[in-house]
Amino acid sequence: MIDLRSDTVTRPTEAVRRAMAAAEVGDDVYREDPEVEALQEEVADRFGRDAALFVPSGVMGTLVLLRALVEPGAEVVCESDAHVVAYEAGAGALHAGVQFRTIDGERGRLDVDLVRPRLRPPTFPYTAVGAISVEETTNRGGGAIHGLERLRALRALADERGVPLHGDGARLFNAIVAAGTDPREYGEVFTAFSFCLSKGLGAPVGSLVVGDADVIDAARAWRRRFGGAMRQVGVLAAAGRHVLAHHVERLADDHANARTIAATLADAVPGSCDPDEVETNIVYVDTASRPAAEVLARLRDAGVLAGAMGEHLVRLVTHLDVSADDAERAAVLLATVLTDK
Ligand SMILES: Cc1ncc(COP(=O)(O)O)c(C=O)c1O
Repeated sequence: MIDLRSDTVTRPTEAVRRAMAAAEVGDDVYREDPEVEALQEEVADRFGRDAALFVPSGVMGTLVLLRALVEPGAEVVCESDAHVVAYEAGAGALHAGVQFRTIDGERGRLDVDLVRPRLRPPTFPYTAVGAISVEETTNRGGGAIHGLERLRALRALADERGVPLHGDGARLFNAIVAAGTDPREYGEVFTAFSFCLSKGLGAPVGSLVVGDADVIDAARAWRRRFGGAMRQVGVLAAAGRHVLAHHVERLADDHANARTIAATLADAVPGSCDPDEVETNIVYVDTASRPAAEVLARLRDAGVLAGAMGEHLVRLVTHLDVSADDAERAAVLLATVLTDK
């Protein structure tokens, strides 16, 4: 099977498994796990920030930051399709006590001109603005990149209002590689942010939260309260260190494979796909009059898994376990399904 449902489906390589097996471990609640300490230091350095914290998942990374940065009852401004509102089962409202002020952006992106008029006045009894939150890259927005220019404008607005700019960087390294950005520039623009090791980077588990020392201390306490403080977790941190050392630059291959899929489809089935929209590793395909469910069932029969994002919208995500040949083959098979009488 060629599995293009998500970049979360990657399996650890032999080298990742070896790194995990060789990990030196200790009790991380005592801060005695050398792999975790090294991972956190390396990540903080890479982004030019004070500190980083290893957490079990992207959802927990966002949650501990919402708790550390935002007063319960305040509003988190984000895009209408953001992961934090769409896919986290109400966690932000339930566990961080925030409400979301959602704004329709373009391909999941916020822009300062969209956000400014939606910030409520800073006076009682208006709901307080607690944070502006953005995804880099956007998930439901199809892997679009905000980029530093937009983010700097949003950070200036956040500073003006005295609130943090929070980054959900589940796929931050896709943006870094695609745009050739220095990670330190992202480190500078976000007040605090998280990124995932277990998406395209290919680690089995884990995310990192990055920010100022006081924010990371608070996030550490919230991780504990949420039950996310782990013990001999160096076996997982070792996988994270390995993928950060070996799997970052290769994300460019995933982006090239996504472009190949888009170009093949746009050529074979005009109107099905816009290659100009493929900025990273996500491809959206319009199935026209064919129901996405039917297209997916036929694709599965042909050996390809993809996801439905709407009644007539299919999503393909490239990653570590998808070769250039797989990508080409999947695109040809999908084109056949879309054009079959
Ligand atoms: C933008 C974004 N944020 C957060 C997450 C959550 O990550 P996890 O499923 O590891 O908790 C995801 C997962 O796909 C994501 O795409």
